[in-house]
Amino acid sequence: MIEFENLTYSYRSGEYKALDHISLSIRQGEWVSIIGHNGSGKSTLVKILMGILEDYEGTIRVNGTALDEDNRAELRKRFAIVFQNPDNQFVGATVEDDVAFGLENKGVPRTEMVRRTEAALKAVNMYPYKDHEPSRLSGGQKQRVAIASALAMAPDVLILDEATSMIDPEGRREVLEILQKIHHEGKTTLIYITHDLAEIEQSDHAVIMHEGRIISEGTIDEIYQDTDALIASRLVLPFHMELSKRLLDGEYMSYKTLVERL
Ligand SMILES: Nc1ncnc2c1ncn2[C@@H]1O[C@H](COP(=O)(O)OP(=O)(O)O)[C@@H](O)[C@H]1O
Ligand SMILES: [Mg+2]
Repeated sequence: MIEFENLTYSYRSGEYKALDHISLSIRQGEWVSIIGHNGSGKSTLVKILMGILEDYEGTIRVNGTALDEDNRAELRKRFAIVFQNPDNQFVGATVEDDVAFGLENKGVPRTEMVRRTEAALKAVNMYPYKDHEPSRLSGGQKQRVAIASALAMAPDVLILDEATSMIDPEGRREVLEILQKIHHEGKTTLIYITHDLAEIEQSDHAVIMHEGRIISEGTIDEIYQDTDALIASRLVLPFHMELSKRLLDGEYMSYKTLVERL
């Protein structure tokens, strides 16, 4: 569904490449995690996809069509993104207004708007909070509302750029549960960006980025077995990975595989 081919990007002020020949294919309905240390180029990649950054080298294809000047605004309407800081993305006085805002902007008729707002809030289990003020919610609730605002737009691709990094463990768990539900329905392609290896377990496919390049790619177990890439990436290893290495054949494993093997 999305193909990056030799994507290369340098910031004006940067003397090195923030992205250095990134090639990556993402299938429709897939949950892809992009993992990497701070500064590895993850946000740059999705900012280019969203059109926030331009003047890149390389090609991006969406359903086989290469993005160009004429079609990119149209093709990008299919993408929605949730950012890191839950407090910077609210525009409405209530949760409901906030979710409806994007639809209103798009000129969606009122009855349709009400229907889609309700459905999106129910999907993230936030409908009972529809009359609440967004600023008074917990971090996890705020990010669930941000996801609802994105879902209301019926995107083909939902991107989360470190959307759980500023919220507590309970909030993270809530967000990951909602994503699992969305993934299960199979319609929405998920691009999940994180620097936390413990958060990639539910994805179908993952890539490790380091200094603007992809240094490993595969299923979660394949990523976990790529010890060289894990060390090079300087990512913190979750407890269950350390545990699996010590208990079983010196191998890093996903939580699920570890439980099965034990
Ligand atoms: N606005 C900017 N101007 C100059 N350099 C930037 C800018 N934003 C990011 N960079 C640099 O680009 C590289 C990749 O950054 P980024 O994509 O934000 O990484 P990540 O999201 O993985 O933390 C880093 O070296 C970062 O310092
Ligand atoms: Mg980032």
